[in-house]
Amino acid sequence: MFRVSKREFIGLSVALSFLCRFPALAAHGLAGVKTASFPKTIKVLQQAYRAEMIAHNHYLGYTVRAVKEGFPNIAYLFQSFAVSEKIHAVNYARILSTLEEATSIIPAGIDVKSTRDNLKRASQKELEKIERTYPDFLQELEAEACDEAIVNCMYSWKSHRQHEQKVREIRRYSGMFFGSVASKIEGMHLDFHVCGECGSTIDVQPAAPCEICNKSKSHYSRVPRPATVG
Ligand SMILES: [Fe+2]
Ligand SMILES: [Fe+2]
Repeated sequence: MFRVSKREFIGLSVALSFLCRFPALAAHGLAGVKTASFPKTIKVLQQAYRAEMIAHNHYLGYTVRAVKEGFPNIAYLFQSFAVSEKIHAVNYARILSTLEEATSIIPAGIDVKSTRDNLKRASQKELEKIERTYPDFLQELEAEACDEAIVNCMYSWKSHRQHEQKVREIRRYSGMFFGSVASKIEGMHLDFHVCGECGSTIDVQPAAPCEICNKSKSHYSRVPRPATVG
């Protein structure tokens, strides 16, 4: 299985960022390319689009449930992740469109349980994407060297690391007494911002370029808090 150390990941990200800034140097960039000569890439992009849209839909469902259970800050976290996942999906759809390929069909149903269980599932799914899904996608993409697809997969992969870390932090508070999480987390001041380029999700006002895609802080947008039930 394809495994990349943190050092290798940073090196590859820097190299790919360089190629993106100088597209003429990217031998297999997509600028002006309208051909279905990337069969593996297209398959990966369609799978990635589907996975991101499913995640987006689940996070929206988790948001509604958390609001109903009286956890507006956890709902806000889920809503922020939903925004991030949508950006990943839209990026894949854009590349597929450049290749004149359609996105895959997204199943309608979502599986929403209690907020405690949703946090657990979110953590498991994020870990799955970090450890298996995205490394496998990147391995598949290597052969055709479509830079735009690789760069965006890298963005998503690193963004999922941020998600998993935040979910893990919240779950650490919960321990065996999930009820007490409410007062702890709901007492926090949360202010989520998502980078529109790569989906990077941060919980402070952006003060520097995006740590994932290196675009200026102006690419971040504050995520609106979910509406609470009246
Ligand atoms: Fe994602
Ligand atoms: Fe970014």
